[in-house]
This record gives sequence, structure tokens and C-alpha cells, in this order.
Amino acid sequence: MATRESNEQADGTGRRALLGAAVLGASGTVLGLGGTARAADARHGGGRGLKGLPVPTIIGHRGASGYRPEHTLGSYQLALDMGADVVEAGDLVPTRDGHLVCRHEPEIGGTTDVADHPEFAGRRTTKTLDGASVTGWFTEDFTLAELKRLRAVERIPANRPHNTLYNGRWEIPTFEEVLRWQDEQTRKRGKQVWIYPETKHPTYFRGLGLGLEERVAAILRKHGKHRRNSPVILQSFEPTGVQRLRGLVDNPLVVLLSGANSRPWDFVESGDPRTVADLVTPEGLKEIASYAQGIGPTLDLVIPRDAGGRLTRPTALVRDAHRAGLILHPYTLRNENPFLPADFRRGTDPDAYGDVFGAYRTYFATGIDGVFTDHPDTGLLAREDFVND
Ligand code: G3P
Ligand code: CA
Repeated sequence: MATRESNEQADGTGRRALLGAAVLGASGTVLGLGGTARAADARHGGGRGLKGLPVPTIIGHRGASGYRPEHTLGSYQLALDMGADVVEAGDLVPTRDGHLVCRHEPEIGGTTDVADHPEFAGRRTTKTLDGASVTGWFTEDFTLAELKRLRAVERIPANRPHNTLYNGRWEIPTFEEVLRWQDEQTRKRGKQVWIYPETKHPTYFRGLGLGLEERVAAILRKHGKHRRNSPVILQSFEPTGVQRLRGLVDNPLVVLLSGANSRPWDFVESGDPRTVADLVTPEGLKEIASYAQGIGPTLDLVIPRDAGGRLTRPTALVRDAHRAGLILHPYTLRNENPFLPADFRRGTDPDAYGDVFGAYRTYFATGIDGVFTDHPDTGLLAREDFVND
């Protein structure tokens, strides 16, 4: 792993650790990559990242959602206890009275026990969300006090039957509770805890008079976590939402990228014809680098799959993003068979683990700077293998 050597430091235990070097990125944010785009390219395949974080960075996706119902303090805590470098706490959506809570989407029928609350039966409805018809219960129709009466449940019990043991144990956390938890855990551990919140459906919520970015910024400012060296990375699938955040706070920012043929919903609404395929061109990446520090592409944008679900050859995305001065945190690696490329499945059981270490090896070899994973413990072992290889 000669290309990674320049970023390795002894961690005092005899093991090697990968640490980002402190430099300022194009917009003044502390990045782990030395200086220029040329330097970035020279390290293609080598370690980059945000200052103070190991590379490749292991990001607990919705906490440790492979083991606990997602976006609960129980899931976040487990991710941290497992050693995740960063915890995705949380995906943020608003309540009717303007609070930010941690749910992956506004519809909460799949991740809470709301259906078991007869008093909320009348709130079930059908809405159009980013062009799709969705039926269920929506956070924007509940006050925070009402949402606090609900409890989280496992989203995918067919794949994660063991996680249903924890159904009903945890409430929906607010963003402010997460920030307080981050501080408590940082104090307890004597080590900075990092979080990676995502603004969900910003255009949709702005249309309802519930703009997300101002709320996120106000809360971060209140807690003194709005600075370029704050341990809070912000992400969104909508580039204009990320640009809005750029004007409000100085945190590291990441633009999420869905499938190549998809269009960010803010582009659809504004008539911008570009697709994700346009955003991942060198020109598109250069534009992103003018306001963000990184991208969060699907793993398929890094290594596409063929019609049979098997991995093909890596694209130029890692090289091109690094040349633009951007870090890459693709999503999402999960241990279970159905979520892995066909090459790494073992049998067909939907809740059985495949050869996820093989998958990590393949993705890490592309030079990505980190990865979102539902199973942070597995990701950490895979990184250890990779670093020591
Ligand atoms: O935030 C990275 C990744 O979480 C994006 O996908 O749909 O899980 O929020 P999603
Ligand atoms: Ca997310």
C-alpha cells in the first residue's frame, strides 16, 4: 500500500493509523488532503479525508442500523461503542411546530409504531413527495410532543429479524438531543465524537414553509458547532440546499449523488436539466468543489454493476473527484446478501451475511476516502485489513 504511506502515522500501539493532514480546502475548510488538485491526483488511491479522521473513514449509517432500529440513540450509541469514526446522526426532517427530528424520511409508518396509535389513525394520508405518491404518516403533520409518544421499530425485519428485539425501546431523537449526546460522549471518552447529519427533501419542506437549512444553522450556531473545524459534516442530495448551507455555516459540506440517470429534486423543480451523470463529469465536480468539500456517491457510481448485479470496472469518479479537490464518502455497505454485489453474496438467505470483506477490499482499492455502513464493526475490521495489507 505504498500510495497510502504518506498519510500513515504510528498510533502509539504499534498499529498503523491513517490520519488526514491538516490543510485548508478551496473554501477554507480543513481538509485532510495536501493543497492542490495536482497533489490530490498524485495521491489517487491514497488516503485523504477530513482533518482528525482516519482514512478510509468508517461512517455509521443511521448509527449501527445493521444491529438496532435506525436513527435511535441506541443505534448511534452502538455505532460509537463499536468505534465508528463518524455517526450519521441523523437524517433530519421537521415537525409541524418546526423542530428537527432524526428520521430517514418524513413518512414514519415504516420506522415507528405510529400505526399502533389509534389516536393518530386520522393522520394517515397520501402525499406527493419529490414526484412520488407516498401513503402513511408524515412528521410535518405531528408536533414534537406527539412524535415523542411514538417508538422506533426495525425498518427491514425480513433482513434483520434480530433487531426487532429492540422495537419499542427508543423514541425519535431530536437534532438538539443528538448534539447534547455528542457533547456528553465526547466528554466521557476524552475523544471528539463526529456526526454527519443530512437534510432530507429540502425543496419539499421549504414548500411547506419548513425550510431546513436555516433551522440546522440556527441549532448548530446555538451549540457553537457551525465552524469549519466543528466535528459536524453536513450532507444533502440537493445541491442548492448545500449551497444554502454554505451561506449560513462553515461546516464541511458533502453533496450526495444518487443514480447516474437521476436528477436532484431541486433541479427538477427549477428546470435545471442536469442529471447526476452531468455532476460527476470533471466540470460538474469542479463546480461542486466551489461550495462543498466532498461528494457522497452511490457505490455504483464508483464501480457500476452489470445486469447480473456483478461489479464491473471502476469509473474515473475517484480520480476526477480527487483532482477537483473533493473527498468521496460513498454509500452504503451492508453485510447482508441482498445488499451486496452478486460477486460477494453467499447463498440467497436475505438475512445471511455475504463476503462483505471482499466487497470492502474492492471498494477501498479504488481510493475512496470513507464509506457509510450499517455495520461499523465490520467496516473497521475491513479497514484494519486494508491498512495492514
Ligand atoms: O447519507 C448517505 C446516505 O445515507 C444517503 O443515503 O438514503 O441512506 O440517506 P440515505
Ligand atoms: Ca443519510
